[in-house]
Amino acid sequence: MTTEAQATSPPEGRELPEVEGGLPLIGHTVPFVRDPVGFLLRAHSRQGEAVAFSLPGRRVASFCGPQANAAVLGLDDSEADRRPVYEPLVTPLLGPGVVFNIPDDVKTWHDTLLLPHLRRDALARYVPVMFDQVERHIAPWGACGTFELMTTMHYLTMRITAHCLIGPRFGRTMGPVLPQLMNRLETAFFMSFVIGSRALLPHHRRAGRARESLTRAIKEIAPHDCPEGDERSHFVELMRAVGPDGRSLDEDTAAALMLGWLFASASTPVHAAWTGVLLLQHPQWLPVLRAEQEAAFTDYPPTTLSPLHELDRLGHCLLESERLHPPVWLLARTAARDLCVQGYRVPRGHMMCVSPGASHRLPGVFRDPGRFDPDRYLPDRGEHRTTPPVLIGFSGGRHPCLGSAFAQQTIKVIWSVLLRAFDLELADPQVREARSTLRHPPRQPCTVRYRRRKR
Ligand code: HEM
Repeated sequence: MTTEAQATSPPEGRELPEVEGGLPLIGHTVPFVRDPVGFLLRAHSRQGEAVAFSLPGRRVASFCGPQANAAVLGLDDSEADRRPVYEPLVTPLLGPGVVFNIPDDVKTWHDTLLLPHLRRDALARYVPVMFDQVERHIAPWGACGTFELMTTMHYLTMRITAHCLIGPRFGRTMGPVLPQLMNRLETAFFMSFVIGSRALLPHHRRAGRARESLTRAIKEIAPHDCPEGDERSHFVELMRAVGPDGRSLDEDTAAALMLGWLFASASTPVHAAWTGVLLLQHPQWLPVLRAEQEAAFTDYPPTTLSPLHELDRLGHCLLESERLHPPVWLLARTAARDLCVQGYRVPRGHMMCVSPGASHRLPGVFRDPGRFDPDRYLPDRGEHRTTPPVLIGFSGGRHPCLGSAFAQQTIKVIWSVLLRAFDLELADPQVREARSTLRHPPRQPCTVRYRRRKR
């Protein structure tokens, strides 16, 4: 199949235009670190869908726009390899033997071990669990008060994920400390990404201790932890599975895999928090969403998936949050050989990147792209229903996110419960991004005032 959005392998093609303003040695590090999405948007608006820029020791080929994104994300692993980018970042955190530190067929097998927990039947089982977790969390809250948005989303999403994917006992025991431990892993990941070193940084020592605590807890609790509706513990299922080499997982690898599931979920609190910020910044949407819930939830709390699937307008708000604040704002690969992508030459070893954060704000792709406008996803406008896809917050092409439906369901449940229980407002509606962290969450403290509604 040949489409306009495809890459070819012979090393032909034009030279990528260089972004202006690079300095000796540090290249474009300063503007990139200060405002990466703004930097990429400016570069692409001036020079087009493909540009090159430099970071210390790295040349980066950056692509931006639906056709160019599809071309890069459609490359297979023998052309665009994720390993050189992610392996040095992930292996020190999760340990060897999982994610990118293993042969491809073992990685595929590990992914298939997660899939049964993300399938539709599993998602249906999680509906009452998710509602219960959020209701329990807000039950002791008073008639009115405040909460810090990111802290609350971190706690709720981690607790739900731990409960559903690992087990209820693990969720209960580790829930209170999970956000802090996961934060240590995230910080070390971000430091490695920025300074490219993992050696003996205090962040890595703290991350190492967090990993030990989490692994110990998984090994102690998970084998005896049987999620509702399942006959066996997920850990025991992992230990019984047989891989492509005919061997089963050892206990350490099974625990590292489960830790990897938690780590992969670390974008969910950020997406949940930005969804809340956008809703509370645009309060005209709240009555619309409450009316939609009244119609969908004939019984509360729902126990099946269908009422959640009826929450189209909330779904559109989630899409708009994914568009304006994608937690994974950069997807990176390394050219495994000399490539020609969208007519441009990308030499072997160069980093290639696609930015959901910049691509989602391109004029000409979305109407008035800076505006929060969930109606753009109504069937008569359907700005996202395009080929190639224009929304790539959960990636796409060869390696789409496996947990997108789980994450979206978690966030729909959280905001359904909160909007139903409380009148909410931001203490300060001017919320900025925290750029000193990996996923650019809302800057803390982001205080929300609540007042209980009469039911
Ligand atoms: C809002 C929440 C989430 C966002 C925005 C998100 C986004 C992404 C993105 C962009 C990728 C592709 C990375 C790349 O190709 O470089 C990815 C991969 C992945 N995600 Fe998610 N994710 C989220 C939640 C989850 C959850 C809850 C899980 C489940 C445990 C999960 C599991 C995975 C896995 C296993 C992969 C790797 C797929 C592969 O290697 O082919 N994600 N995610």
